[in-house]
Amino acid sequence: MESVILIGMMGSGKSTVGRALADLLGVPFQDTDMMLEHRLGRPIPQLFELYGEEAFRYHETSILKNMDLEGRVLATGGGIVLRPENWVEFARLGRSVFLDVPVELLEARLDQSSRKRPLLQTDNWETKLRDLYASRRPLYEQADVRVEVDEQPIEVIAERIRVALDGH
Ligand code: S3P
Repeated sequence: MESVILIGMMGSGKSTVGRALADLLGVPFQDTDMMLEHRLGRPIPQLFELYGEEAFRYHETSILKNMDLEGRVLATGGGIVLRPENWVEFARLGRSVFLDVPVELLEARLDQSSRKRPLLQTDNWETKLRDLYASRRPLYEQADVRVEVDEQPIEVIAERIRVALDGH
């Protein structure tokens, strides 16, 4: 099986939905953020603080490049779409799926966890979130498949992705 690469904004549920989708498809689940934390031995906010965003992006790409073709569900960090070379790796590994969540819902979801997101460490994180959303949306839209995400349970979203992949 080709891998399924979940992309989308922070707070779009790539990791939680990804685990449910991996269960549904009976394949392993992996998460580039977790792999990065494992590789560098620190939580993401510390990695940003210590090494900066560029170094973080370098390692993100390196993890993708070293990934084999074993079929899996791969959750990614929200900014993985920024580097064109990562798209080459997406195509090599399988099919990319954009989890499309309305920005209002992202804002509601991130209300409790914005402090854990290095890119949202500003006085007005809601404005930053909306700016990131606006600038990245055209990139997410380059995914092979787009799935709308609403407030339905995770299992429903996972099933929606499975159906969308089948029809693709
Ligand atoms: C980032 C999103 C984060 C993490 C890092 C950068 C981004 O992952 O990779 O903080 O640039 O949007 P999540 O999308 O899982 O929050």
